[in-house]
Amino acid sequence: MSTTKPLPESVLISESCLRNRIRELGAQISTDYENQELVLLGVLRGSVLFFADLARAIFSAQLTDSGRDVRVRFEFVQLTSYHNGTKPSRVQLIRGGSDYLQQRHVLIVEDIVDTGHTVKFLREHLRTLNPKTVKVCTLLDKPSQHQVPVAIDYIGFEIPDAFVVGYGLDYAQQYRNLPYIARLESP
Ligand code: IMP
Ligand code: MG
Repeated sequence: MSTTKPLPESVLISESCLRNRIRELGAQISTDYENQELVLLGVLRGSVLFFADLARAIFSAQLTDSGRDVRVRFEFVQLTSYHNGTKPSRVQLIRGGSDYLQQRHVLIVEDIVDTGHTVKFLREHLRTLNPKTVKVCTLLDKPSQHQVPVAIDYIGFEIPDAFVVGYGLDYAQQYRNLPYIARLESP
């Protein structure tokens, strides 16, 4: 194994903090979309662990209130972005964004909002598919790094400007399966 590979440093958000906060988000979302059908639109690949736990948290919140019913459907998109010096990132759709979203309530599920270009692009793309409503739920937000105004409806945690990995987030496709969020340390 290469010795130059950076190592995860300190734990920034522990497993139990993630669990508690996602339970709160699930409760909030199940209240806000009570008796509606909701399309959870996961942004591959970083959001997969958050997506899976959030979907279950929305269901669990319903169990505590039997009058509440949120029918949840899963859809996914995959995007790629090119960072080109100081120029704004160019974001492209690789796959997803089905016609099913037409006239549906859509909740974008993201791992992290950094510059905001990805969410801005996705909101603009979804507009062409004519959904009923579009909201954004991100596990992490780096507000100090936003380059474009982005409307985010649900935020798990605001974090400082650090490169983080784990719980779906990667460095060169590594560390996605850490069960917590960690800062990355250079060798
Ligand atoms: P944007 O800059 O808001 O468009 O975010 C682009 C994407 O960069 C995010 O969806 C993540 O996949 C990735 N990203 C941004 N910051 C981090 C980080 O600290 N760790 C891992 N991935 C990140
Ligand atoms: Mg992402």
